[in-house]
Amino acid sequence: MLKPPISRMGGKSKLRKIIIEMIPEHICYVELFFGAGWVYFGKEPSKVEVINDIDKEIVNLFKMMKYHEAEISRLLKYEVSARDVFDNYINTDIKSLTDVQRAVRFIFILSQSFASKGKHFGYATTNRPSPQIFETEYLKLVKDRLRNTYIENLSFEKVIDKYDRNHTFFFCDPPYFETDGYGIEFERKEHLLLNTMLKNLKGKFLLTINDHPEVKEWYRGFNIKEVEVNYSVSREQSARGKYKELIITNY
Ligand SMILES: C[S@@+](CC[C@H](N)C(=O)[O-])C[C@H]1O[C@@H](n2cnc3c(N)ncnc32)[C@H](O)[C@@H]1O
Repeated sequence: MLKPPISRMGGKSKLRKIIIEMIPEHICYVELFFGAGWVYFGKEPSKVEVINDIDKEIVNLFKMMKYHEAEISRLLKYEVSARDVFDNYINTDIKSLTDVQRAVRFIFILSQSFASKGKHFGYATTNRPSPQIFETEYLKLVKDRLRNTYIENLSFEKVIDKYDRNHTFFFCDPPYFETDGYGIEFERKEHLLLNTMLKNLKGKFLLTINDHPEVKEWYRGFNIKEVEVNYSVSREQSARGKYKELIITNY
């Protein structure tokens, strides 16, 4: 199983094995909320694959990885895990960068920040600095994985409209309901739109979401599996621990 080149809040690192085992037969695999793409990078490639995220920086990174991996690797060779470099990148106006430089900046900031939040320089007394992104061989694997994949940068509803067929499988991992997001609005309105679209889908879907009574009500009649996940992305001991998530399918 390949590890994604970035981490992302809410990434499915802990659940991906269970999710991958539940993927039904399909021809076209669509990931509507890609983030770091734990499931995509973990599963066997499908005949046709589509990855989508509304976040322009995420999409730019994977586009540049797909087409300009050699240049990204070359630039990353000169990077070092250092606080002043991190601060410089944070304070850079991305409009002044080329798309390749933007990709390097983004992967650097996420990989070198605390809990991959891209805000504060991440350091520890028990873990070494994250070296994976500086390894050329690894980035080549990522590029190869992306070779036969369409990359979209749309809101989820437009992707469903474009790709929904009987032979399509949608993996949906939206921002959690009523929890802090990614600086991108995803509230009840968006969750209800997703719910309506999934109810009317021609293809199959697997949705992962936090366990919330309202969510269970919206998806009544579908298969709902409860799973426990361990999270540890907080400095505060009180915010760590086990959380319940739901895996909802229409098959
Ligand atoms: C929970 S994360 C996905 C994590 C991913 N499954 C992983 O393993 O890393 C949710 C993602 O949805 C994206 N997003 C938010 N609103 C969206 C929308 N309307 N359409 C598509 N993507 C959206 C965010 O940018 C974020 O990357």
